[in-house]
Amino acid sequence: MIKAANSRSIAEAAEILRGGGLVGMPTETVYGLAANALDGEAVAKIFEAKGRPSFNPLIIHVSDIEAAEKYVEVDARARNLAQSFWPGPITFVLPRKKGGGISDLASAGLDTLAIRVPNHPTALELLKVSGLPLAAPSANKSGNLSPTTPAHVHAQLGASVDMILAAGPCKVGLESTVLDLSGDAPEVLRPGGITAEQISKVLGVEVGYAKAQGDAPKSPGMLLKHYAPNAAVRINAIDVREGEALLAFGSTKFMVAKDFPEDRLRNLSEGQDLHEAAANLFSMLKELDESGAKAIAIMAIPNEGIGVAINDRIARAAKG
Ligand code: TXA
Ligand code: MG
Repeated sequence: MIKAANSRSIAEAAEILRGGGLVGMPTETVYGLAANALDGEAVAKIFEAKGRPSFNPLIIHVSDIEAAEKYVEVDARARNLAQSFWPGPITFVLPRKKGGGISDLASAGLDTLAIRVPNHPTALELLKVSGLPLAAPSANKSGNLSPTTPAHVHAQLGASVDMILAAGPCKVGLESTVLDLSGDAPEVLRPGGITAEQISKVLGVEVGYAKAQGDAPKSPGMLLKHYAPNAAVRINAIDVREGEALLAFGSTKFMVAKDFPEDRLRNLSEGQDLHEAAANLFSMLKELDESGAKAIAIMAIPNEGIGVAINDRIARAAKG
């Protein structure tokens, strides 16, 4: 339901987020579809609601730079830029901090996180009251335009969002600039309200827009490096071969012996719940990759609902 943003509805929204629900959240750029970024199952609901056929990493929203420091390695450049532009429409891609607890699904398995402090009183109060980092993509269905009013959010996602906090139309109306600060040379991955020129001025170095091979600017989707395990990946496995680890979905009774090594076995969901499987996908793939197995056998996963996005990622991993 849509509720006007005030301290009571914000407290209620914080409660929904703590319980693993979804909230339509106003920001200065566009409305976001927010979930607790520490809770993989809550993050899986975001992808289900958007109906996206693949997992893309999401922006993590925090209340201030101190909160950001819990989850990412903030270097001098980021600190400098944050002082100039936060709260505001710029997102930094930074190395993830170990033990920060952000779900692997929120960053689609990457070692970096996209993080920003939104410049909107309602979003900032929700972040403070909930005390949570909030994963929030734009609150539209996959393939549609980003919503800038509560009515847009309701029209697209009404049924799958637990509450929409209404605070009128968004001022900027365009998504935040995404700046990659994970390498030596900062690069703009997605143009937005804050320009490369403004960023260059603060940093005192030339900052450009990321380019594809050749000279064509990359589309945001193409800029993404996708997570891929080092081990080979074998899909639709109905057995486990010598030297392989097993990523199961459902019963493993006929797949492995009782004494199969524990560190080589993970189950996305014993009860074959696709939502639970999505939440576990990246962290389990990483654990099995770290076990030293030469290959990871993955059992078949139904290609329906969020299973489509799971299979998309597994197919990419198998190709990589
Ligand atoms: O203005 C905005 O940024 C809005 C509001 C709600 O804050 N959010 C938004 O989120 O536009 P979303 O999920 O629609 O866009 C996230 C962008 C994508 O282009 C994604 O590729 C990029 O951020 N991104 C996220 N994590 C990344 C990472 N670790 N490395 C590179 N790019 C990343
Ligand atoms: Mg979007």
